[in-house]
Amino acid sequence: MKLIITGGAGFIGSNFIYYELKQHPEDEFICLDKLTYAGNLSSLKDAMQQPNFKFVKGDIADRDFVYSLFEGEKPDVVVNFAAESHVDRSILEPELFLKTNVIGTGVLMDACRKYGIKRYHQVSTDEVYGDLPLDRPDLFFTETTPLHTSSPYSASKASADLLVLAYHRTYGLPVTISRCSNNYGPYHFPEKLIPLMIINALHDKALPVYGDGANVRDWLYVEDHCSAIDLIIRHGRDGEVYNVGGHNEKSNLVVVKIILKALGKSEDLITFVKDRPGHDRRYAIDQTKIHNELGWLPQTKFEDGIAKTIEWYLDNKDWWQEIISGEYQNYYKKMYGNKF
Ligand code: NAD
Ligand code: TYD
Repeated sequence: MKLIITGGAGFIGSNFIYYELKQHPEDEFICLDKLTYAGNLSSLKDAMQQPNFKFVKGDIADRDFVYSLFEGEKPDVVVNFAAESHVDRSILEPELFLKTNVIGTGVLMDACRKYGIKRYHQVSTDEVYGDLPLDRPDLFFTETTPLHTSSPYSASKASADLLVLAYHRTYGLPVTISRCSNNYGPYHFPEKLIPLMIINALHDKALPVYGDGANVRDWLYVEDHCSAIDLIIRHGRDGEVYNVGGHNEKSNLVVVKIILKALGKSEDLITFVKDRPGHDRRYAIDQTKIHNELGWLPQTKFEDGIAKTIEWYLDNKDWWQEIISGEYQNYYKKMYGNKF
């Protein structure tokens, strides 16, 4: 089988490529990535050594480019990770999110229609459901929870999901969608909560916690997300949405304290800053459907996953030092000001 994996130079995409190369050495993999600020070829260094892996630089929203790639490669499966993925950036600059996340998804699906495909898989997010109240721990997102987005990022992802389902109903395109909770693990770009806090703590810099730090996320180790997508693309039912989550809810403050403790740093580094506009309070996934239909369950406990993640950042300083020394500095100053 030949798979095109878009956004494979990003966090989850690169982890997915390594997962697939290990689990399915008989398959062929093409990574299509624009290499935006979030894409990193160094994350794919080891994959580049494999004869059944190829990297192609390009934009999923560039129709001519995407069509010529599909015409030449004739993929069986497309897994679309490519996206602008950071909520804070979507608040600063929403338009790019529409272009990549919505138009780009449409272009990929048109290419699938034109050249034929066994499966198009859209990697989506639990953020399409909006948020849950903090005082109702009995509530979870199911696949039938209405879409109710808060940020330009989540609105663009929900729009893409609707387009994917419309292509299934109208054109019969064989699609699946996964809606996953927050991931953590190796190759996570340092603008996101967990890597940002690890790196700031290592530098004894302030840890900027939004609002009161009580917002809750359902954290899933990235490899568990990869195993879920692998099952869905190979055994999931056409036209179906699958929620993926860890049943591992933690407030941001708790996560930050766990990181500080693991690194032997003082909680005095925690600094409460102005809240994110429209900040979702709680995400929590009901993963009954994927468990019942495909037998999926997360394998990594948070204590183990966070320990492995911290170790990875300690062992791979070159990877993140290169990132934070470049354009990232401008973004950081714009977001957090000069005092951090
Ligand atoms: P990321 O920002 O780390 O990586 C995105 C990748 O897409 C980068 O390599 C970037 O270069 C590439 N890209 C961006 N625009 C492109 C374009 N126009 N054409 C081709 N490539 C382009 O993101 P991530 O955290 O790995 O997330 C991957 C996917 O998973 C996204 O669709 C995101 O919405 C979804 N998701 C993420 C999480 C999470 O916790 N990170 C949770 C659920 C779902
Ligand atoms: P993030 O990693 O941006 O993921 P998402 O917004 O998609 O869930 O943020 C996770 C949580 O951490 C979210 O509630 C916002 C919060 N947060 C901070 O408190 N400080 C920060 O500097 C960042 C980046 C996030």
